[in-house]
Amino acid sequence: MATELKTIVVTGGAGFIGNHLCEKLLSKGNKVICVDSFITGSKRNIQHLLTNKNFEYMGHDITTPLKLSGFDELYNLASPASPVDYYKKPIETLFAGSFGVKNTLDLCKANNATFLQASTSEVYGDPKEHPQKETYFGNVNPIGPRACYDESKRFAEALVVNYMRQYKLKTRIARIFNTYGSRMRKDDGRVIPNFIIQALKGKPLTVYGKGEQTRSFCYVDDLVEGLILLMDSDYPMPVNLGNQEEFTMLELADKIIEMTGSKSKKEFLPLPQDDPLQRNPDISLAKKLLKWRPKTKFDEVLEGAFLRVNERYFQGVIEQPNLQWGQDSFRKLAHYNFHNDTVTVSTLFQKARREILDYLMYHELLHKYHQFSHRNGRSSFHTREFRKAEERYPKQKEIEREIGNIASRRKSWKWW
Ligand SMILES: NC(=O)c1ccc[n+]([C@@H]2O[C@H](COP(=O)([O-])OP(=O)(O)OC[C@H]3O[C@@H](n4cnc5c(N)ncnc54)[C@H](O)[C@@H]3O)[C@@H](O)[C@H]2O)c1
Repeated sequence: MATELKTIVVTGGAGFIGNHLCEKLLSKGNKVICVDSFITGSKRNIQHLLTNKNFEYMGHDITTPLKLSGFDELYNLASPASPVDYYKKPIETLFAGSFGVKNTLDLCKANNATFLQASTSEVYGDPKEHPQKETYFGNVNPIGPRACYDESKRFAEALVVNYMRQYKLKTRIARIFNTYGSRMRKDDGRVIPNFIIQALKGKPLTVYGKGEQTRSFCYVDDLVEGLILLMDSDYPMPVNLGNQEEFTMLELADKIIEMTGSKSKKEFLPLPQDDPLQRNPDISLAKKLLKWRPKTKFDEVLEGAFLRVNERYFQGVIEQPNLQWGQDSFRKLAHYNFHNDTVTVSTLFQKARREILDYLMYHELLHKYHQFSHRNGRSSFHTREFRKAEERYPKQKEIEREIGNIASRRKSWKWW
């Protein structure tokens, strides 16, 4: 029997998690309406979806009522989410979690649609209980710098369960723990992009306090799978979604320095107020209820990420080709493969290695070409200096041929 396809609204669909969710829902054949004000998200995140006939974008700020009808489900992800964003926009954050949630709940009520709220592990504040179970009430400072986010999400949960109780609305609440993956903004202040970019640029990695605070990181594909399973369940109370692999910030910094082969040092800054010391989800409920658990290993993704130069994420970081960086990364990954004997990573490695070499050599050659052309006019492409550059690459002829191939493959490289 064919599955019945749905029309699904994703508010905040142009954000980091939202665009992955839209992509996944579309791949299952659903129609997706992405509602976003671009306050922290960007059109670039949904550019690749705009040509899909089942995808529609609607520019709207959910803190004012919105008109939409004929949909089955709504995922409400619309809220500034990274500390950098909500420190800058505390009122907008509080309004997203209050007026925004009310407006989207009302819309679901009018359409008899199921509502899923993207809540957060921040509702536990700086927890005194580890790991955090859904039954833990949290330890939150209601007037501290993080309160605009934490309290807006706590209020949102209260509003959602009361729409469920009073109006019998079908509702879900996902308590999302730290998530990472491609298309995170490199300047949004979250620790993984921060560290990677600092390491790649050779700058000190900023560690707060003694770096002993821990976080766990869930890969975005795993999280999106959990959100969809939760929507498809009939469970109205909060469910933790996150990865239990836990690292101290020092461990994370060292891991990233090692993987990138960077010469960066660590710089210690004072711990921000109310920064939680430990975060680790108890996901027994999700395991039991949704048969869900994160599948992706942190190290594996991180290694892959260094090599996936086609991720927009690294755009701007590899402006100046740095062969040394590339070669160091290959060595690390080869080492990793050797010890872990993983075929998938190995295959990825071979493919990515080729792509990154192509990329770096192509740019190196192109750079030379432009440099000499600029200095001496186009005819100087084969100057003595350029021939010297050729000698640095004994397989230059082959590479030149490859450049043609690369150019024709460009369209398939997401970031071109
Ligand atoms: N990324 C994480 O680690 C994480 C962890 C816990 C919870 N969450 C929750 O998941 C959701 C998505 O987070 P993200 O990391 O993708 O953040 P993000 O900032 O990348 O995405 C949020 C999106 O919502 C949009 N938005 C914000 N306020 C809006 C409004 N009033 N009207 C319309 N659009 C609005 C933004 O423009 C952006 O596109 C958020 O609700 C966040 O609280 C994320």
